[in-house]
Amino acid sequence: MLNAKIVKLINEQINKEFFSAYFYLDIANYYISKNLNGFGNWFNVQAQEERSHAMLFVKYLQNNGEDVELDDIKALKRKFADFSEPLNATLEHEIFVTESINNIYAAALENKDFRTTQFLDWFIKEQGEEEQNADDLIKKYDLFGKDGKGLYLLDSELAARVYAPPSLVI
Ligand code: FEO
Repeated sequence: MLNAKIVKLINEQINKEFFSAYFYLDIANYYISKNLNGFGNWFNVQAQEERSHAMLFVKYLQNNGEDVELDDIKALKRKFADFSEPLNATLEHEIFVTESINNIYAAALENKDFRTTQFLDWFIKEQGEEEQNADDLIKKYDLFGKDGKGLYLLDSELAARVYAPPSLVI
């Protein structure tokens, strides 16, 4: 059994991870509508990763005999002003997710729930990578994306990303 507060926070995190999948699918759709299919691919893979994050939290609750509560997923009605806006939104969103996971970690520590802190260790590391990936994309776009040829090459690079399931097995 887990502490009720931890269960609530993890259920909220499940919603945030599914929302993240939605968030990135929306960005993928934007780039594909602009014929930047490589960017679209990168964000579709990102959306798949987010679903896998949500499912890890689902499984963690189930493994501990707790109920999973699936809440509404917030609608996204965004209009992006230019190609760089979704990249900046990505970094901002990942910083938000990092804070959210840190909050669960802090609550678990407060409750001496070391099973949960151990489970979350993978996510703490993963969030470092997620922020770094978003920051790398912003920097690459700033360096190369404003020139047509550079944008074409960057789009080709992003087309090569393939989904790999998370290394965490629970
Ligand atoms: Fe599930 Fe992008 O963090």
